[in-house]
This record gives sequence, C-alpha cells and structure tokens, in this order.
Amino acid sequence: MAGKWKTAIITLSDKGYAGEREDKSGLLIREMIEQEGYETTAMILLPDEQKMIEEKLKELCDEGGTDLILTTGGTGFSPRDCTPEATLAVAEKNAPGIAEAMRYASLQITPRAMLSRGASVIRGKTLIINLPGSPKAVKENLEYVLSSLPHGLEIMKGLSGECGSDVKKHEK
Ligand code: MTE
Repeated sequence: MAGKWKTAIITLSDKGYAGEREDKSGLLIREMIEQEGYETTAMILLPDEQKMIEEKLKELCDEGGTDLILTTGGTGFSPRDCTPEATLAVAEKNAPGIAEAMRYASLQITPRAMLSRGASVIRGKTLIINLPGSPKAVKENLEYVLSSLPHGLEIMKGLSGECGSDVKKHEK
C-alpha cells in the first residue's frame, strides 16, 4: 500500500497549550509526513498532563482510523515532561527499535540526544512514536525513520507479512 497513512500529530507543551508559544514542531511534522504521502488526520495541542495525554492516545487508537500517532515534546528531564510515561501506560506492545534508531542517529549529531527519553509502542493497530520538542530535533529524528515506517505499518495492519521481497532496496 503506497502512502496515505492516517497520522495524528500531538504537540505536548504547557506554553503552546497556553497560547504562549507557536507550535512550529507540529507544523514541521505535518510538512515532512505529507511530503512522503502520509495524511494528517488530526493536529492536537495538549499540556504536559499525563492523564490528558493518555486519554487522547487511547481515544485515537481505540476509535480506529489512526495508523500512526507522532508526538512532539515532553520527552526530556524536566519535572513536567511525561510524554513517554503516558505512551508506555497505554502501550500494548513495545516497539523500541524506532526510538533506539532515532537516538542512534541523533547521537551522531549531538550528545544531548541521550537526554530524550522518547518511546515507540503499538496499541491495537496504531503505532505511537515520541519525538523531542524542538523543530531541529523533530527534523533530525523523523527524517531518519520515516522511510522505514510504511513497511512496519503494513505488517502491523496485517496488510503484509512479507519482509523479504524488497528488503535489498532498503539496505545500505
Ligand atoms: N535529538 C536531536 N536529533 N537533535 C537535538 O537537538 N535535542 C536533545 C534531545 N534530542 C536534540 C535531540 C535535547 S537538548 C533534549 S533536552 C531532549 O531531546 C528532550 O527534548 P524535549 O524535552 O523537547 O522532548
């Protein structure tokens, strides 16, 4: 299946939610995924409140119609940062390779990449990926994983079980 993965974007930011900061990272995610043929189905702004984030993640996953949720922000060490905790609380399966890959790629750029605690998990037929908050970090993390996601999404949705057919095309 080519493109058109239904994607919800959630920005976690107390300042953004209070209208004190423009949501540049959410808009950047939208631009990047739409260039790759994904479809943005929701853009949501929430404060760093774990229960609110959990409720929204559950709603999006459980009502169907969302293949992918990309969050931005709240992955660091600040006392208010709780995006990974909310994500792990609603997870049914861990999918750690995506978060590991993003940190691996980001560490080639900045050692501070180790300070993002972002997770990647599956709930039902929705993949949830946490990205850090700054536009720079969003770009560097997302561009590394975006091309591998359709294959994972196809398998998650039961649309493909075949890993071998075009694997060579994606090897380095
Ligand atoms: N990853 C990349 N690729 N580039 C970056 O500039 N910034 C880091 C890290 N990951 C960064 C990055 C920094 S400084 C922090 S504090 C953490 O992401 C957490 O960011 P968050 O709290 O905005 O989610």
